[in-house]
Amino acid sequence: MNKKKNSRISGFFKLSREKKVELVKEFTELSDKELEIIEKGFLDLETRDNMVENVIGTLSLPYSIAVNFLINKKDYLVPMVTEEPSVVAAACYGAKLLRENGGILAENLSNLMIGQIYLAGIENAEKAKKEVLEAKKEIIELANSEKLDLVEMGAGAKDLEITILKNKKIGSILRIHLLVDTKDAMGANTVNTMTESISPLIEKIVNKKAVFKIVSNLADKRLVKARGRVSKESLTTKDFEGKEVIEKIIKAQAIAETDIYRAVTNNKGILNGMGAVALATLNDWRALEAGAHGFAAKSGRYMPLASWKKDEKGGLVGEMTVPIAVGIVGGTISVHPVARASLKILGVKSAQELAQIIASVGLAQNLAALRALVSEGIQLGHMKLHNKNIVAAEEVF
Ligand code: MEV
Repeated sequence: MNKKKNSRISGFFKLSREKKVELVKEFTELSDKELEIIEKGFLDLETRDNMVENVIGTLSLPYSIAVNFLINKKDYLVPMVTEEPSVVAAACYGAKLLRENGGILAENLSNLMIGQIYLAGIENAEKAKKEVLEAKKEIIELANSEKLDLVEMGAGAKDLEITILKNKKIGSILRIHLLVDTKDAMGANTVNTMTESISPLIEKIVNKKAVFKIVSNLADKRLVKARGRVSKESLTTKDFEGKEVIEKIIKAQAIAETDIYRAVTNNKGILNGMGAVALATLNDWRALEAGAHGFAAKSGRYMPLASWKKDEKGGLVGEMTVPIAVGIVGGTISVHPVARASLKILGVKSAQELAQIIASVGLAQNLAALRALVSEGIQLGHMKLHNKNIVAAEEVF
């Protein structure tokens, strides 16, 4: 629906709230009711009580719109929920720089969730592995019998992988991975149901009780890749030469690749953006963060998630591959009215599309943070809002 619309809105931050809402309404065709729900952060008592235990209230956070995102040639307004000043402004700025050079290209490299079953202290692990693999077809069918709706959509459990791990204390460990296409759901519940359902059959084959079964948040079979380019002209301002900014970003990249103390902060910046979109759509942002940090360390060395390089024209090219397990249905997403409104603003048709947007926001966020770090410094923008907050707090107390 928003294919031909333009999310490049210059000076959006300067507009009144009413004007911002008007533009969002035009872009998305949200109803007045939905806009009111967003304004009030509305969550009725019953929905709250059904979500978690021991509820006595709610906590409101600012709900913002990031403009300028052009992803796979489509314009998006991106809802972001964060308490941190400058994050949304940075996302808008990063998106602007990237759209001036054709926008962000994002793709899903794979779409499978991992459900794990662990069996420990196996005498003959190779034999056990072989026997379980011989029953692979039956095991996958059993898993799928739990979720026939998924199977009908061409999704569901697809494969089984077994790895033998060794541990001095508990001996050989059989790690069984059930790989599941959970389609438009984040999938943790589906995967947990499936692993629990196949576990008794596996226990019978191996003649050993499983230690436990659970989804893995290292969703490295649900990877998304985002890429974008920014020219030196785009990075040139009255105070800074784009060429120098690029040289310094290349150095910042090398520093992050060399030093974990920097790499963690760099990735935290990326997750500022990714997490804010996950929160606005009520996806599990802790799972997203755990997966991203795990993936960053998967080689045995914690690395920056994105990489920035200079191309032959002297421009800066960024690329990031990151695991993103998110959904547009299921869990609390379908029951929370603000989450539903966020999905409508995005106009996403699939969980894969949402994952592409989240990766793109992460890339734009990283670009904006690096640019600020190597030029005017991060505190300038941060402190403007921070000072406003202090004044506001002093007024309250
Ligand atoms: C602050 O929340 C995030 C940054 O520290 C990220 C970075 O240093 O790249 C600005």
